[in-house]
Amino acid sequence: MAESWVIMVTAQTPTNIAVIKYWGKRDEKLILPVNDSISVTLDPVHLCTTTTVAVSPSFAQDRMWLNGKEISLSGGRYQNCLREIRARACDVEDKERGIKISKKDWEKLHVHIASYNNFPTAAGLASSAAGFACLVFALAKLMNAKEDNSELSAIARQGSGSACRSLFGGFVKWKMGKVEDGSDSLAVQVVDEKHWDDLVIIIAVVSSRQKETSSTTGMRETVETSLLLQHRAKEIVPKRIVQMEESIKNRNFASFAHLTCADSNQFHAVCMDTCPPIFYMNDTSHRIISCVEKWNRSVGTPQVAYTFDAGPNAVLIAHNRKAAAQLLQKLLFYFPPNSDTELNSYVLGDKSILKDAG
Ligand code: DP6
Repeated sequence: MAESWVIMVTAQTPTNIAVIKYWGKRDEKLILPVNDSISVTLDPVHLCTTTTVAVSPSFAQDRMWLNGKEISLSGGRYQNCLREIRARACDVEDKERGIKISKKDWEKLHVHIASYNNFPTAAGLASSAAGFACLVFALAKLMNAKEDNSELSAIARQGSGSACRSLFGGFVKWKMGKVEDGSDSLAVQVVDEKHWDDLVIIIAVVSSRQKETSSTTGMRETVETSLLLQHRAKEIVPKRIVQMEESIKNRNFASFAHLTCADSNQFHAVCMDTCPPIFYMNDTSHRIISCVEKWNRSVGTPQVAYTFDAGPNAVLIAHNRKAAAQLLQKLLFYFPPNSDTELNSYVLGDKSILKDAG
């Protein structure tokens, strides 16, 4: 092996938004959830992470930069992903440059990782989902791992639970799995990004500040203290998962919207049921909910679904382009620019595909 070479792979991965939420782990180390969840992956232009991974014999240690700043890789989550992909590395050959890396070489070689989010990190816009999915996907390409996306999702899951769902476009289910080692806790595609392409997703950025309680801490406290979570995980979510899959497959927007809004509201109710209670939404979030509920009721059939993750920002899923245009009009009317409740920006998106830019 010549000592001066570098091999690089760049990948781009969108974030995903859960319509049936993951909240609570039964195993913190392996990141195994207490219930199944379903999400929609956004298109790769908005809210995505771009990650370049590089390997060279001249690298003395594994290093990573996030949005241009070096971060520590000592955390268990990064180490889990690196270890699992390294264990699956295969021979790599670049004939043109005369470079050969054998399976065994990967144990000694170090990687450098540069990752960029094109949206605010840790503001409840699922930055870790896109981040870990992209990292695992890029490393797998670099190291020529042969695993399919579902198998890779079980590795991304060990970086951040929701990341496992970003390995696919369209609607995706994270199956909680049963076995203790977590090998069956992985993501599967429900339908691809072409299946329901009328939907338009609008994100109303209420605040891009970092959230006070991280998802990891929040869900730990919920598992420890909320009785409502037990009921949700055992009685409510299993039924909702079946209904949600059916609504998606049949493109039944009324049922889809009902389930999405109800599940978001129950997730925030579970946060309130935590001791001490966790508040992710604010007054503006509540006003957005009222506005959508009132509109849906006045029309008779739902036009828009709302869902909020661990932050105040609204993810609004419109039935079609006409509903999306009407929604934007309403948002601009009720939350006008230069007012106290101005919404910072709107991100329009639909579907997605995982793009391998390498
Ligand atoms: C509210 O995946 O960020 O967005 O597994 O601890 O990294 P960790 O948590 P994370 O939690 C996401 C929670 C959620 C709901 C969801 O995406 O299903």
